[in-house]
Amino acid sequence: MNDPGITESDVLSCVTSGDQLDHRGYQGNIHTGQVGEHKILVKSAAGRGPAAWLNRRMLRREYLIYERLAGISGIPRCFGYFMGRYLVLENVDAQTLRDGTITDRDGYFVEMLEIIKAIHERGIAHGDLKRKENVLVTRDSRPCLIDFGVSVFRKPGFHPFNHFRHNFSHQHDFNAWVKHKYNRNYQEISPEDAKYYQPLLIELIARHIKRAWTKLKRIFKTSTDKS
Ligand SMILES: Nc1ncnc2c1ncn2[C@@H]1O[C@H](COP(=O)(O)OP(=O)(O)O)[C@@H](O)[C@H]1O
Ligand SMILES: [Mg+2]
Repeated sequence: MNDPGITESDVLSCVTSGDQLDHRGYQGNIHTGQVGEHKILVKSAAGRGPAAWLNRRMLRREYLIYERLAGISGIPRCFGYFMGRYLVLENVDAQTLRDGTITDRDGYFVEMLEIIKAIHERGIAHGDLKRKENVLVTRDSRPCLIDFGVSVFRKPGFHPFNHFRHNFSHQHDFNAWVKHKYNRNYQEISPEDAKYYQPLLIELIARHIKRAWTKLKRIFKTSTDKS
């Protein structure tokens, strides 16, 4: 359901004359603007032909997930999905986990875990929280989770493939929380947090590839520095 306070023309004027975020995502562009008291952020589905169709479907799916998560503190408010291609969200006053400053680390990560549990309770596993761009630090140093583009909703009934994907993403969310909390220093995980960390096979493989790649780059750099 679209918010009655925001109209199609508000959304169009944000897309045509609002500020564009310096970001090109998988689906399209992001614009920000102000409508009355609301600071809004518009995610647009771009592309042509089959790509456009797919992007619109994905963005609509993301909209439905934001709707399911309505009211959870730490998830941006969703104002609706307009004209079959614009997802309109509250523009949170925040920076990404990559750029933001956390003043109270313990409090921040306790709250982030609560948000993850709250979205899981609504049947949604995020699935892409390892990316620091999908975790925000608000101006008052609190967590906010965004980008439900690859999230998985657990379907009731017998859906083995869906349940497999959901369980995978569910664990992935907790592993992401541990990764951020401990800054990848997995050997420092407290006994209390150890129960949340169960590395998935694919994560272990990815970590080995990443380490080998970093090592290779270092070797290459030292050999070019010497020559
Ligand atoms: N509701 C929001 N409030 C503030 N910033 C946001 C919000 N949604 C997205 N952003 C910003 O836009 C960036 C891209 O958004 P995201 O939803 O992750 O798009 P994509 O699906 O293209 O990765 C984020 O990293 C963040 O900086
Ligand atoms: Mg993202």
